[in-house]
Amino acid sequence: MGYKHLNLPKDNDEFPEGLILVSGKNSYGKSTILEGVLFAFFGPRIFRGRNAESFITYGVQEKAEIYVYFIFDKKKYYIYRKWGRTGSIITKLFEWVKNRKVYQEVKRFNTEKFFEISSEQAMNTVFVRQGEVEELANKRGAELREMIIDLFRLNIIDDALSFLDNESKGKKYEKENLEKLRVPIERINNDINRIEKENSQLRKLITEQEKKKVNYEQKINDLPSNELISQLENLYNQLKSTNDKFLSYKNDFKVKIKKTDLSIGDFESQDTIINRIKTYTENKIKLKKEKNELDKKREATIKGLGKTNGRIEDIKKSINKMEKSLKFTIKKEGKKIALCPTCQNELTKEHYDEMIQKFTNDIKLNQNKVKSISQILTSFNNNIKNSQDKLDAIKENITIHQGLKLDFENYKKYESELRKIEKELKSFLSAYGTQFKNLSIEGIKELSSEKEKVSVELKALTNSLDEKKAKLQAEQERIGQLRNEILKMKDLEKKIGDYEVDIDHINKAKEFVRRFVTEYMVVKRLVKNIALTTDKYIKDFTSGQYSDLLLDLSGTRKTGLSLRIKDNYNGEYESTEVLSGGDRTALGIALRLAISELMSSIRPTKDSPKRNPKIDFLLLDEPLAALDETRRERILKHLIKSKSFSQIFLITHTTIPPDIHAHKIIVDKDISTGISKARFEKPTVII
Ligand SMILES: Nc1ncnc2c1ncn2[C@@H]1O[C@H](COP(=O)(O)OP(=O)(O)OP(=O)(O)O)[C@@H](O)[C@H]1O
Ligand SMILES: [Mg+2]
Repeated sequence: MGYKHLNLPKDNDEFPEGLILVSGKNSYGKSTILEGVLFAFFGPRIFRGRNAESFITYGVQEKAEIYVYFIFDKKKYYIYRKWGRTGSIITKLFEWVKNRKVYQEVKRFNTEKFFEISSEQAMNTVFVRQGEVEELANKRGAELREMIIDLFRLNIIDDALSFLDNESKGKKYEKENLEKLRVPIERINNDINRIEKENSQLRKLITEQEKKKVNYEQKINDLPSNELISQLENLYNQLKSTNDKFLSYKNDFKVKIKKTDLSIGDFESQDTIINRIKTYTENKIKLKKEKNELDKKREATIKGLGKTNGRIEDIKKSINKMEKSLKFTIKKEGKKIALCPTCQNELTKEHYDEMIQKFTNDIKLNQNKVKSISQILTSFNNNIKNSQDKLDAIKENITIHQGLKLDFENYKKYESELRKIEKELKSFLSAYGTQFKNLSIEGIKELSSEKEKVSVELKALTNSLDEKKAKLQAEQERIGQLRNEILKMKDLEKKIGDYEVDIDHINKAKEFVRRFVTEYMVVKRLVKNIALTTDKYIKDFTSGQYSDLLLDLSGTRKTGLSLRIKDNYNGEYESTEVLSGGDRTALGIALRLAISELMSSIRPTKDSPKRNPKIDFLLLDEPLAALDETRRERILKHLIKSKSFSQIFLITHTTIPPDIHAHKIIVDKDISTGISKARFEKPTVII
């Protein structure tokens, strides 16, 4: 800015404690010094958007740099900040390491965290810039309250509140979850009553059905057992079927026997029939033998007949051949002669005729032979037929006898079986007959179906009873579950109640914390302190005209004036709005000093000492301009005496009253070059 290079105080010197005035004429470069220090600590944000280039005055320079050496929390540091023409920034903090006697960089440092003060707070308390001194006096109650809460880090209370809020939300969530599970106990009781009613109805039904069941069982007991019934039924069935078979075989036998010369009596002894069959068989064998012989003879006769017929045919052929082939052409001694086709001998006609005659006789002879053989054959055929008929008759007789024998055996077999069953039935009846009311087959069938019917009914009844009992059991268990449910619900309701109490307590706690902050902490305690401390300064600064600052900070943003001050001329409390400019400046400085002073001494909460700013110096830019000489002098004197801050830098262009002796930074400007200069000057009088 206006400075090309500045080193204050000289070399490695340190500024003394107490009041240090920064004095010089308008525009000489006083505020620039304060801004430089502010820039070192808080960076370009203090210039509110001005770009780097406009601060880097001299064209050859690429950067603006500042080093501020300070003591903070009893430790020595220096902060270094560089701002490049392009806007790049380097900030570094170095801490003095006593034993090594060097400065060592504090890595990853952050100004606000390091000083435990925000730039906003710093502007309100430590660095008071030009024209801002009256600001506090003009603030409204609610704004001041918020500023104080912020300054004194009372937002720890916000943390407490948000913690309580979370707690209460958590409890509400738990409570709502439980409420979702909740079933009104009355409803469960209604369910139990309904089920109990149903159960008593069910029990009644069960008793009735059990009585019925006993009846049915008695009825079944009174009837003969199923085994006996089926035994008797079986016997009757066997008797009937055996009897039927017996009768049908007997009938068949009778019909068949009628066709023979036999009587039933012949069958009483089997031997008769067996013997008969034996005789028949023997006859049959004999007859077969005879017939076989006849058959053989007949075969031989048929062969003879064939031979005889063959010979006749041969002769006829020879005659035929001769007639056709012999040619009587050769004449010898007047006789016709031919050549024998077989032997090539000469054959005469006579001889030939003689031969033909002989052949013809032979045919006749053989034809007669055929006749007689044919007669023999006919007689053979008759005999054979006769024999065959006899054989067939015997065969049939054998078959009939054998069939009859089998039929008789069967008929006898079924008869004996029938007797056996009749005997069994008799013994069964003598043993169990009394148990049956009606012994007829129909009676038994009826009994069987009646018993079946009763059994089916009994079974149905038993099933229905079992079902009902199972249902009763299940319902009984359900009642047990419902009773458990009631216990659970009671427990649940208790828990919900507990949560409600908790939530109520938390809400009360929140309310209390809130009231504690606004009423007790700020309004009563802090404000009272601020008012008291301000009071100390105000009377002095206003030459006794004003005193008794009343701060009422409990109102809202909209409520009217809350800073009042007592006018000692008329004894009235007046609103700060009616104060003169100078009064307001005086009140502003008084409030600044009071708040800054309290910042380092008061403990708003137990945690506060650690967290409050540890900065115990003040930088005030031109707070005295609006004040007359008397007030200026009073304030300066007060500041010189003040033990609340270790150092106070006060910028002013006004003339310093001659009896004020303080350390000074004299700011000057070379009119020809426009470059500001400054030097540190000790007072001529020892303070
Ligand atoms: N970027 C800059 N380059 C050069 N000079 C600058 C720059 N910014 C400000 N100045 C100079 O610094 C002067 C302002 O200095 P400063 O505000 O410190 O004065 P002051 O002593 O506080 O005056 P006043 O008593 O009026 O408050 C201006 O007159 C201007 O010439
Ligand atoms: Mg200035």
